[in-house]
Amino acid sequence: MKEDFMQPHRPQWKSRVGFLLAALGSAVGLGNIWRFSYLCYKNGGGAFLIPYFCALICVGIPLMILEIGLGHKMRGSAPMSLAKVNPKWEWLGWWSVMFVMFGIVLYYSVIISWCLNYLVYSLDLKWGSDPNAFFFKDFLSLTRGPSEIGNIRSNILGALAIVWFINWLIVFLGIEKGIERANKIFMPLLFVLTAILVFWSVKLPGAREGIRVYLKPDFTILSKPGVWIDAFSQIFFTLSLGFGIMIAYASYLPRKSDIVLNVYCIAVLNCMFSFFAGFAVFSTIGYMAYQTNMNFKDVIQESIGLAFIAYPKAISLLPFLPQVFGFLFFSTLFIAGISSSISIIEAFNSAVVDKFHLNRKTVTSVLCLLGFLGSIIFATGGGLFWIDIVDHFLSHYGLVIVGILECVLIAWVYRAEKLRHHIDRVSDLKVGVWWNGVIKYLVPGILLVMLVNDVVYEIFNPYGDYPTVAIILIGRDWLLYSLVAAFIIAMRPWRKDIHFNGE
Ligand code: TRP
Repeated sequence: MKEDFMQPHRPQWKSRVGFLLAALGSAVGLGNIWRFSYLCYKNGGGAFLIPYFCALICVGIPLMILEIGLGHKMRGSAPMSLAKVNPKWEWLGWWSVMFVMFGIVLYYSVIISWCLNYLVYSLDLKWGSDPNAFFFKDFLSLTRGPSEIGNIRSNILGALAIVWFINWLIVFLGIEKGIERANKIFMPLLFVLTAILVFWSVKLPGAREGIRVYLKPDFTILSKPGVWIDAFSQIFFTLSLGFGIMIAYASYLPRKSDIVLNVYCIAVLNCMFSFFAGFAVFSTIGYMAYQTNMNFKDVIQESIGLAFIAYPKAISLLPFLPQVFGFLFFSTLFIAGISSSISIIEAFNSAVVDKFHLNRKTVTSVLCLLGFLGSIIFATGGGLFWIDIVDHFLSHYGLVIVGILECVLIAWVYRAEKLRHHIDRVSDLKVGVWWNGVIKYLVPGILLVMLVNDVVYEIFNPYGDYPTVAIILIGRDWLLYSLVAAFIIAMRPWRKDIHFNGE
């Protein structure tokens, strides 16, 4: 087989399981625990599984086959792989790793730091009887709006330094000795911890009612477009698509790798994990509703509120070793978060190493230092507002735009058929011709509808109650600046030992 270029020293995963666990580590993150279960509850309970699985099959799996197939064929990080398809598209690769590394992961690491703080707080249930006031006032010292930054929170800053140190250490040690080894410990641990939480919480009084609320299907909701959009965007975020991560991870696979089966494993295990973790979330909240004699809808909260307000409240009410339960819960979040954050650092790292041939360890160190410094803005009194705005723009628009453009590039410029041939040649399980059409029309079509819908909605209902200036400067401009940076880097020349064959 013709090698696309010479790269004798590219690192490799030691085993297939190592790759699977690392990709799973990236996919299974905070979003699986608090976002999925809340979305299920909000969007028709068990009935939400229908759009969710449709999204998995129509968009998630085909796009993941594309990303993993591309990284494997081109043996390069996102910018390099895209540049090998067509040098004019290199910027797209840079853009995705850029706004994730200098956007999403900056605030994501702050949320992991909160988990670390709360992990310690669980030991004496420090949030007391009013976790709401504790979270916003004592812990975050929340200011009045995004323009009022307030002080840096020293407890968050301390935890943030630890988080970045762990990120640095794992990525610094390399693919096999760092990322693969860490995930071989993290992933089994994560499953064990989640299983303990599930079996512990389903036995609590009121848990059954919680699970009933979680899964009771309301099929009428299927006619609402918003429910479908929620399902598609959740699949996108949860499978780490559009982040440039899967491309980079796949570039470390050996030549003969069963891409298709790997994709099915990652996608299915990730979604099963979300579904399973939902039992712990809803049983515990059900228990709280039962104990406080309140309505379920008055105790449930969304994402951050669920983890840092509703859950602590429920933990305090537990009859038996609440401290241990709290500790396990926040450890679960912490591990799920770290295994995701290292994946994007690696994606950016490999992009820089591919392009400039710099020393890997130096790049990792500089990157983690910059990451730490950049995160500090989210660790201030106004940090929560910043998180909310940046998250909305990057994960709603950034990822979806990258997804659409990836499809356009591969299906139309490169030709889906060519990539499929490569995938089928190395995989035992074949993709099938259906994939060409799906990547050409279905995936970009669905993503485009989502994007247009979001943009139109945004124009008429600007996000949150924030001043327009904040939305523009913090949200939209974050995307634009990273786009400009991506173009600038893409224009720089490639290191000398990479030979593009001009596919
Ligand atoms: N899939 C993760 C989740 O569901 C999100 C994620 C993956 C992520 N990789 C990341 C977030 C890198 C930040 C940085 O939570």
